[in-house]
Amino acid sequence: MDVVVRLATAADAQHIADMSGRLIEYGLPRSWLAPRIVRHVHRRDDLVIKAVSANTIIGFAIMSFADEAAHLNLLAVEPRWRRRAVGRRLLTWLEETAACAGTFFVSLEVRAENHGARRFYRALGYDETELITGYYNGVEDAIVFARDLSVCHTR
Ligand SMILES: CC(C)(COP(=O)(O)OP(=O)(O)OC[C@H]1O[C@@H](n2cnc3c(N)ncnc32)[C@H](O)[C@@H]1OP(=O)(O)O)[C@@H](O)C(=O)NCCC(=O)NCCS
Repeated sequence: MDVVVRLATAADAQHIADMSGRLIEYGLPRSWLAPRIVRHVHRRDDLVIKAVSANTIIGFAIMSFADEAAHLNLLAVEPRWRRRAVGRRLLTWLEETAACAGTFFVSLEVRAENHGARRFYRALGYDETELITGYYNGVEDAIVFARDLSVCHTR
Protein backbone atom coordinates (compact mmCIF):
# COMPACT_ATOMS: atom_id res chain seq x y z
CA MET A 1 0.00 0.00 0.00
CA ASP A 2 1.34 3.43 -0.94
CA VAL A 3 2.23 5.79 1.88
CA VAL A 4 2.61 9.51 1.23
CA VAL A 5 3.91 12.21 3.57
CA ARG A 6 2.09 15.54 3.47
CA LEU A 7 1.58 18.68 5.52
CA ALA A 8 -1.27 18.25 7.97
CA THR A 9 -4.13 20.75 8.07
CA ALA A 10 -6.40 22.01 10.82
CA ALA A 11 -8.94 19.41 9.71
CA ASP A 12 -6.46 16.69 10.79
CA ALA A 13 -6.00 18.11 14.30
CA GLN A 14 -8.59 16.00 16.10
CA HIS A 15 -7.31 12.79 14.52
CA ILE A 16 -3.72 13.68 15.42
CA ALA A 17 -4.71 14.62 18.98
CA ASP A 18 -6.50 11.27 19.36
CA MET A 19 -3.42 9.43 18.09
CA SER A 20 -1.21 11.37 20.50
CA GLY A 21 -3.41 10.50 23.47
CA ARG A 22 -3.57 6.83 22.50
CA LEU A 23 0.00 6.23 21.33
CA ILE A 24 2.18 8.78 23.18
CA GLU A 25 0.47 10.32 26.22
CA TYR A 26 -1.13 7.12 27.54
CA GLY A 27 -1.22 7.13 31.37
CA LEU A 28 -0.46 10.86 31.52
CA PRO A 29 -2.67 13.95 31.58
CA ARG A 30 -3.39 14.89 27.95
CA SER A 31 -1.47 17.98 26.87
CA TRP A 32 -1.78 17.69 23.06
CA LEU A 33 -5.43 18.39 22.40
CA ALA A 34 -6.82 19.49 19.04
CA PRO A 35 -6.65 23.29 19.62
CA ARG A 36 -2.94 23.03 20.42
CA ILE A 37 -2.34 20.97 17.27
CA VAL A 38 -4.21 23.60 15.22
CA ARG A 39 -1.93 26.32 16.65
CA HIS A 40 1.11 24.34 15.52
CA VAL A 41 -0.41 23.82 12.06
CA HIS A 42 -0.72 27.58 11.68
CA ARG A 43 2.59 28.67 13.27
CA ARG A 44 5.23 29.65 10.75
CA ASP A 45 8.04 28.10 12.76
CA ASP A 46 6.36 24.71 13.14
CA LEU A 47 5.65 21.80 10.86
CA VAL A 48 2.89 19.27 11.39
CA ILE A 49 3.12 16.42 8.92
CA LYS A 50 1.16 13.24 8.35
CA ALA A 51 1.76 9.90 6.70
CA VAL A 52 -1.31 8.83 4.77
CA SER A 53 -2.35 5.52 3.26
CA ALA A 54 -5.68 5.04 1.51
CA ASN A 55 -6.89 8.42 2.78
CA THR A 56 -6.20 7.44 6.40
CA ILE A 57 -3.61 9.04 8.67
CA ILE A 58 -1.26 6.28 9.79
CA GLY A 59 1.44 8.47 11.33
CA PHE A 60 2.26 12.06 12.16
CA ALA A 61 5.02 14.27 13.51
CA ILE A 62 5.27 17.81 14.88
CA MET A 63 8.52 19.78 14.84
CA SER A 64 9.23 23.33 16.06
CA PHE A 65 12.04 25.31 14.47
CA ALA A 66 14.23 27.99 16.01
CA ASP A 67 17.29 29.71 14.53
CA GLU A 68 19.84 27.29 15.90
CA ALA A 69 17.84 24.17 16.69
CA ALA A 70 14.73 22.20 15.96
CA HIS A 71 12.69 20.31 18.51
CA LEU A 72 10.66 17.22 17.68
CA ASN A 73 7.53 17.51 19.82
CA LEU A 74 5.66 14.38 18.77
CA LEU A 75 6.02 11.44 16.41
CA ALA A 76 3.81 8.37 16.22
CA VAL A 77 2.90 5.59 13.82
CA GLU A 78 -0.18 3.37 14.12
CA PRO A 79 0.84 0.00 15.61
CA ARG A 80 -0.11 -2.08 12.57
CA TRP A 81 2.09 0.13 10.36
CA ARG A 82 5.21 -0.05 12.51
CA ARG A 83 8.56 -1.43 11.33
CA ARG A 84 7.70 -0.45 7.75
CA ALA A 85 9.87 2.69 7.72
CA VAL A 86 6.97 5.12 8.19
CA GLY A 87 8.58 6.67 11.28
CA ARG A 88 11.89 6.91 9.45
CA ARG A 89 10.23 8.68 6.51
CA LEU A 90 8.49 11.20 8.75
CA LEU A 91 11.63 12.01 10.71
CA THR A 92 13.85 12.13 7.63
CA TRP A 93 11.38 14.51 5.94
CA LEU A 94 11.63 16.88 8.91
CA GLU A 95 15.42 16.56 9.16
CA GLU A 96 15.85 17.38 5.48
CA THR A 97 13.60 20.41 5.89
CA ALA A 98 15.59 21.53 8.94
CA ALA A 99 18.88 21.13 7.11
CA CYS A 100 17.54 23.06 4.10
CA ALA A 101 16.65 25.88 6.48
CA GLY A 102 20.17 25.81 7.93
CA THR A 103 19.09 24.23 11.22
CA PHE A 104 21.40 21.35 12.02
CA PHE A 105 20.65 20.50 15.63
CA VAL A 106 17.58 18.42 16.49
CA SER A 107 16.49 17.43 19.98
CA LEU A 108 13.57 15.59 21.51
CA GLU A 109 12.43 13.88 24.72
CA VAL A 110 11.22 10.31 25.05
CA ARG A 111 9.55 8.56 27.98
CA ALA A 112 12.27 6.58 29.69
CA GLU A 113 10.20 3.38 29.65
CA ASN A 114 9.59 3.66 25.91
CA HIS A 115 12.38 1.34 24.90
CA GLY A 116 11.08 0.81 21.35
CA ALA A 117 11.22 4.54 20.62
CA ARG A 118 14.63 4.81 22.25
CA ARG A 119 15.91 2.11 19.89
CA PHE A 120 14.25 3.88 16.95
CA TYR A 121 16.02 7.18 17.67
CA ARG A 122 19.35 5.47 18.24
CA ALA A 123 18.91 3.65 14.90
CA LEU A 124 18.32 7.02 13.23
CA GLY A 125 21.56 8.51 14.51
CA TYR A 126 20.40 10.21 17.72
CA ASP A 127 22.41 10.14 20.93
CA GLU A 128 20.97 10.00 24.43
CA THR A 129 22.30 13.15 26.08
CA GLU A 130 20.44 13.57 29.35
CA LEU A 131 17.96 12.04 31.77
CA ILE A 132 15.38 14.42 33.25
CA THR A 133 13.87 12.97 36.40
CA GLY A 134 10.07 13.20 36.66
CA TYR A 135 9.79 15.19 33.43
CA TYR A 136 6.36 13.76 32.63
CA ASN A 137 4.18 15.12 35.45
CA GLY A 138 6.40 13.44 38.02
CA VAL A 139 5.14 10.09 36.69
CA GLU A 140 8.01 9.16 34.42
CA ASP A 141 11.53 10.29 33.56
CA ALA A 142 12.51 11.59 30.13
CA ILE A 143 15.52 10.75 28.05
CA VAL A 144 16.76 13.65 25.93
CA PHE A 145 17.99 12.71 22.47
CA ALA A 146 19.93 14.94 20.11
CA ARG A 147 21.42 14.75 16.67
CA ASP A 148 23.78 17.08 14.85
CA LEU A 149 22.65 16.80 11.23
CA SER A 150 25.94 18.22 10.00
CA VAL A 151 27.70 15.08 11.26
CA CYS A 152 27.39 11.98 9.10
CA HIS A 153 26.36 8.88 11.09
CA THR A 154 26.77 5.35 9.83
CA ARG A 155 24.63 3.09 12.01
C1 LIG B 1 8.83 5.01 17.58
C2 LIG B 1 7.95 4.84 16.33
C3 LIG B 1 7.52 6.22 15.83
C4 LIG B 1 8.78 4.13 15.23
O1 LIG B 1 8.00 4.11 14.04
P1 LIG B 1 8.20 2.95 12.93
O2 LIG B 1 7.49 3.38 11.72
O3 LIG B 1 7.85 1.63 13.50
O4 LIG B 1 9.78 3.00 12.72
P2 LIG B 1 10.61 2.49 11.44
O5 LIG B 1 9.92 1.32 10.82
O6 LIG B 1 10.87 3.66 10.56
O7 LIG B 1 11.95 2.01 12.14
C5 LIG B 1 13.25 2.43 11.71
C6 LIG B 1 14.26 1.65 12.51
O8 LIG B 1 14.18 2.02 13.90
C7 LIG B 1 14.42 0.85 14.72
N1 LIG B 1 13.20 0.53 15.46
C8 LIG B 1 11.96 1.07 15.29
N2 LIG B 1 11.11 0.58 16.22
C9 LIG B 1 11.81 -0.30 16.96
C10 LIG B 1 11.48 -1.14 18.05
N3 LIG B 1 10.23 -1.17 18.58
N4 LIG B 1 12.44 -1.91 18.58
C11 LIG B 1 13.70 -1.90 18.08
N5 LIG B 1 14.09 -1.11 17.04
C12 LIG B 1 13.14 -0.33 16.50
C13 LIG B 1 14.78 -0.27 13.75
O9 LIG B 1 16.18 -0.23 13.56
C14 LIG B 1 14.06 0.16 12.49
O10 LIG B 1 14.61 -0.39 11.33
P3 LIG B 1 14.21 -1.91 10.88
O11 LIG B 1 12.73 -2.05 11.02
O12 LIG B 1 14.70 -1.99 9.48
O13 LIG B 1 14.94 -2.82 11.83
C15 LIG B 1 6.72 3.95 16.63
O14 LIG B 1 7.14 2.77 17.28
C16 LIG B 1 5.67 4.63 17.49
O15 LIG B 1 4.78 5.31 16.98
N6 LIG B 1 5.72 4.40 18.83
C17 LIG B 1 4.72 4.99 19.72
C18 LIG B 1 4.85 6.50 19.81
C19 LIG B 1 6.24 6.90 20.25
O16 LIG B 1 6.86 6.24 21.05
N7 LIG B 1 6.72 8.03 19.69
C20 LIG B 1 8.06 8.52 19.98
C21 LIG B 1 8.08 9.45 21.12
S1 LIG B 1 7.20 10.97 20.75
